[in-house]
Amino acid sequence: MKEKTEILELNAPSMQAKIYIGAGILKERLPSLTAGRKCFVVTDTNVYALYRPFFDEYFKDAGLFVLPAGEENKNFQSLYAILSAMAEAGVLRTSRLFAIGGGVVGDIGGLAAALYMRGISCVQVPTTLLAQVDSGVGGKTAVDLGGVKNIVGAFYQPEEVVVDTEFLKTLPLREIKCGMGEIVKYAALDGKFFKTLSENTDELSSLEFLQSLIADSIRLKAGVVERDEKESGERKCLNVGHTTSHAIELTHGFSHGEGVLYGMLLETHIAIQAGVCEKEYGGKLIKIIRAAIEVEPKSAPDFKNIKADAAKAKADKKNTRGDKITLSVAKKQNEWTTLTLDFDFYANALERAVKELSL
Ligand code: NAD
Ligand code: GLY
Repeated sequence: MKEKTEILELNAPSMQAKIYIGAGILKERLPSLTAGRKCFVVTDTNVYALYRPFFDEYFKDAGLFVLPAGEENKNFQSLYAILSAMAEAGVLRTSRLFAIGGGVVGDIGGLAAALYMRGISCVQVPTTLLAQVDSGVGGKTAVDLGGVKNIVGAFYQPEEVVVDTEFLKTLPLREIKCGMGEIVKYAALDGKFFKTLSENTDELSSLEFLQSLIADSIRLKAGVVERDEKESGERKCLNVGHTTSHAIELTHGFSHGEGVLYGMLLETHIAIQAGVCEKEYGGKLIKIIRAAIEVEPKSAPDFKNIKADAAKAKADKKNTRGDKITLSVAKKQNEWTTLTLDFDFYANALERAVKELSL
């Protein structure tokens, strides 16, 4: 059965964007999106290899930059190379950049669009589950620098997001699990997601089940972004688990979604320790997160050096002020908060969480 197309709107202060969701929707959208302008495509080596005939057919006159796949390439050198390729291809202010790939391509492609000639039109085409439910929507763009994730970037809304679920057919299991990690994040923020996931933990490995949550995930995120585009308040809720996640991703070789699952697990335990998260609710949330972590393929973290991981979290200046570190944590159903802790408390609580959760 062909799934129906959904069209959502994101009315952010800086941009009104349409979000199209459906199987095969990209090919329907491309004729009008590419007509009459110079286009430039950023993708990565894996997506390009898998979808070469599509690129050849639909973007034969466009400029193209194929980024080597992987988070390690979300950096300044790649950004410089993309911008140089855009200049060389004769990209104009009236041109349009298509970022076709996972969150790495979306983040760096979106930043290139924001910077080139002070901003050209950008269309995000997220091809991973993670990018479809999270990074493709909301206009955060960035590269990593000096081992710190997303430290250089811009808020830059795409004009349109095309979420074509056909892309998910070629996604490796590990990447499906990563996208599931960000969907589990929504359970920490929203009672409906919490209920759906706690009642269906045995479905967490099913792509069909996860796919059925894409539109609601986007709806939830778009609402947050509309109310707080530049993350001065409410948008911080989307960072649950992320302070610890960003510290452990690079050192533990985790993908972002895997890191978010462990980050949420540890930070929920810390929030219970700090008396901020209701114990019973926190226990239920931990149950969902644990079920998600158990889905194959499992990552094999080694948290023996957790003090060093804590120090890494402190080095990420986005969440620290002096000796304080801030986490976004769930409090109870439908309620979250930011939790600012003395760094020593955080480091000790992290160690205790690893021990008590038997990680
Ligand atoms: P990714 O872009 O590295 O993609 C994961 C892997 O899947 C890559 O190897 C990629 O080549 C491959 N791939 C992509 N589409 C595919 C397809 N259809 N079939 C087969 N393989 C495919 O990583 P990701 O998990 O998509 O995104 C993680 C990145 O997103 C991180 O850099 C993270 O910081 C960022 N992020 C940004 C935001 C935001 O709001 N901007 C939110 C969450 C995460
Ligand atoms: N993924 C966090 C945000 O978009 O704000």
